[in-house]
Amino acid sequence: MKRHTLLGTLLGISLVSGSSLAHIEQSEPLQSLRQSYFALLGMTFAPMGDMVKGKIEWNDALFTTWAEDLNHAAQFGVERGFAPGTDKGTTRAKPNIWSNMDDFQSKLADFRAAAAKLAETAAAGDPGESRQQFVATGGTCKACHDEYKSQDYLY
Ligand code: HEC
Repeated sequence: MKRHTLLGTLLGISLVSGSSLAHIEQSEPLQSLRQSYFALLGMTFAPMGDMVKGKIEWNDALFTTWAEDLNHAAQFGVERGFAPGTDKGTTRAKPNIWSNMDDFQSKLADFRAAAAKLAETAAAGDPGESRQQFVATGGTCKACHDEYKSQDYLY
């Protein structure tokens, strides 16, 4: 069937084969998955922070675009990157994540809710409110990092 042929082609090409993924450590794919997620958050949140701090000129449309990007990225199902047994390897994820999974997930939920609200607030177009919700969202990143992320690689 046509559909099967297409799937076969997609699976066969190097686009989806692991060896072509520059940022993925093959022996630790789930650690790489979650680090890619957080890297994307960081690379979206940082320029927003530059705008909030006045390092770059305030631009409502751009801030809104970044807030939407952050929200979309936030909703990605990173949970599978914290599967049992992935507390090892090149990671800054602290082992207490796996013994406090409910709390970890509730901090993730807090962050996602804050990011969703930030996208909404930004779209409403009041820079003061946007700044305030940006800071609140940053607080949810910090709340999780304080408990569950080490400054340095653990292993
Ligand atoms: C629910 C917990 C949680 C939340 C919320 C969270 N982080 Fe993290 N973050 C982590 C953990 C755990 C790691 C370490 C992952 C690893 O090394 O395996 C991490 C790693 C990172 C990294 C390093 C990624 C890399 O390249 O290895 C950045 C940057 C980062 N987070 C930024 C953010 C920002 C910005 C936010 C909020 C907008 C945020 N995080 C929200 C838990 C969280």
